[in-house]
Amino acid sequence: MTVTVVIGMQWGDEAKGKIVDLLAKDYDYIVRFNGGANAGHTIKVADKKFGLHLIPSGVFYPEKFKIIGNGVVIDPETLLKEIEDVERSGYSMKNLIISDRAHIILPWHKIMDGIEDEKSGIGTTKRGIGPAYMDKSSRINAVRVADLLDETALKEKLGQIARLKETQIRTYGQEARFDVPKIFNELMLFKKKTHGYIHNTAYVLQDAVRDRKNILLEGAQAVLLDVDHGTYPFVTSSNTITGAACVGSGLPPRHIARVIGVVKAYSTRVGGGPFPTELNNDTGDRIRQKGAEFGTTTGRPRRCGWLDIVALKYACIVNGIDDLVLMKIDVLDGIEEIKVATAYQIDGKKTDQFPSSRLAEAEPIYTTFKGWGTLTSHDWDKIKKDKKIPPQMKHYLDFISKELNTPISMLSFGPERDQTISLL
Ligand code: GDP
Ligand code: IMO
Ligand code: MG
Repeated sequence: MTVTVVIGMQWGDEAKGKIVDLLAKDYDYIVRFNGGANAGHTIKVADKKFGLHLIPSGVFYPEKFKIIGNGVVIDPETLLKEIEDVERSGYSMKNLIISDRAHIILPWHKIMDGIEDEKSGIGTTKRGIGPAYMDKSSRINAVRVADLLDETALKEKLGQIARLKETQIRTYGQEARFDVPKIFNELMLFKKKTHGYIHNTAYVLQDAVRDRKNILLEGAQAVLLDVDHGTYPFVTSSNTITGAACVGSGLPPRHIARVIGVVKAYSTRVGGGPFPTELNNDTGDRIRQKGAEFGTTTGRPRRCGWLDIVALKYACIVNGIDDLVLMKIDVLDGIEEIKVATAYQIDGKKTDQFPSSRLAEAEPIYTTFKGWGTLTSHDWDKIKKDKKIPPQMKHYLDFISKELNTPISMLSFGPERDQTISLL
């Protein structure tokens, strides 16, 4: 038995989906434990590209169990559409399991998200994530998957919440009128379609542990978007770090054997918030174009910048990373000088600690590396065969690994499954 957690180490979109899909073949259970349809995990399988928001990235192995854990907030419409898309492509969903403790995103969450984001400038995905987690914590205005089972109580509850939300929205100077019977009917349709999938997933995972199964926990978002440990308030509303894998699934911490940190060879961020190594210049544009850095969920251009060792060291500390996988190294092809931030200067003082506030004032201190030119697919075939990384690239990888005191176990040089090299 082995239990592995996969965590994004930056501001999301590190290509967690590709890695989870690759690793999934050696696991029996693949579990999402946090976030909702704000996530967009892209997977390329046999010439087809899938953008998953809620279904775990092990879905292309129909025999594996895919769990949507209690820590996830589920948008029923998005999930049903995703199930349909995946089934239409010929992948059976028979082993999907949805936690009855997961919370449901309702129409008012998305409206509130839009209104509140106008004020905050966070630049959320407007998928209702923040308001849904707020209602979960408030304990009084939330609907869980388990609530779908008692139709009479649900109808009454929806009516009460809808009226309350209409009043709240009015205080923001806007009008909303929620059609409760329509919302109820949509939830009943969701219940009908997901009927066989709903379980108390803590018991499902307990049985998996008893039977010595391999379990892979798939993080959404990333460390710097964690509501406690990220660049607050420019974060998401869930915990995204290793610790959240247990909270959001019901699996006890002592079973975790390995934590893999997924790092992009440079940094990106979508939405607002400080980003010390951001490149508002041609190099940034070039990385965006070459890396196709446009949001899987919202289509927004991602902000691009150099790798940030200060942030990554912090990400290693809060997650307890065993090994790193380095993604999208191909995107840095052809750049003559590649930079990495190794410290910050704040108020004239040098620090190698990631600050809890005033990140916007941090001036990065860079170490510069010579680029490795442009590699063809033929070059990569050879690198893969001989396991010999070109010297300039090796220098870059060794530096990252040494600074973070963590081995790099895999290198990815393209979105396809076979564009990956195992380094250990
Ligand atoms: P996630 O949210 O962490 O799963 O990442 P996204 O799917 O949002 O973004 C990663 C993007 O990079 C996707 O479009 C992937 O297909 C693509 N990708 C994954 N690995 C590589 C790689 O090594 N090189 C390049 N060029 N693209 C990659
Ligand atoms: P994956 O799993 C990148 C960002 C949003 C915004 C902030 C809050 O694909 O890596 P939210 O809608 O969660 O309230 O938005 O978090 N964000 C992400 N950025 N990748 C994601 O997920 C993200 N999920 C949320 O852009 O800045
Ligand atoms: Mg993404």
